[in-house]
Amino acid sequence: MKLISVCGSPRNGNTEWMLKQLHALAASRGISSDLILLRKHEIKPCNGCLSCEKGGKDRKGICSIKDDMQDIYPRLLEADIIVYGTPVYFEMLSGLLKNFIDRTCPIWPKLEGKSFAGIAVAEEGIGSAIDNLKTYASLCNMRWAGSVTALAKKPRQVAGDEKIVEQLQRLVSGFESATA
Ligand SMILES: Cc1cc2nc3c(=O)[nH]c(=O)nc-3n(C[C@H](O)[C@H](O)[C@H](O)COP(=O)(O)O)c2cc1C
Repeated sequence: MKLISVCGSPRNGNTEWMLKQLHALAASRGISSDLILLRKHEIKPCNGCLSCEKGGKDRKGICSIKDDMQDIYPRLLEADIIVYGTPVYFEMLSGLLKNFIDRTCPIWPKLEGKSFAGIAVAEEGIGSAIDNLKTYASLCNMRWAGSVTALAKKPRQVAGDEKIVEQLQRLVSGFESATA
């Protein structure tokens, strides 16, 4: 079983801490994992050319933009479980994560059947962020495996929060049944 997570925060903050914690918990259950920190990658905006749609649902997974996504596409396709984590910006996903989601256009039909979960961190309220992720999972025909949310403002404020760790633990336990 392989887990891949994508972190949509531009800083080494709460979302990143939660995803790293999730990966540590997954590792203790023998789940191999791959963490993509979008802040460390060059991922250009989708230019809307739609050349990736050639072939319809059997599209080849080719994007006309050559950047770090070329390396990320096969890593997403290899995974059984995908987790996207985002800070809440204006009650929605971060721009970094939305841009990444747009760039999955060449491969989204191939994500069908994978398990998918969301993590979101806001200062005051999660707004639509988890609903945004549920909509994406549904469009891609992925199985919703749950979410963990936290309230925090300063970077790494959630670090060591036992209640959050328990929720992440439950999410990881659910992965095993979701992929069984
Ligand atoms: C541009 C921007 C917009 C934000 N919008 C919201 C918001 O709508 N609601 C909220 O509760 N917090 C909002 N926040 C606060 C962040 O969600 C909060 O600081 C969170 O801890 C960031 O996660 P991170 O530490 O993983 O980067 C906003 C922060 C920024 C920078």
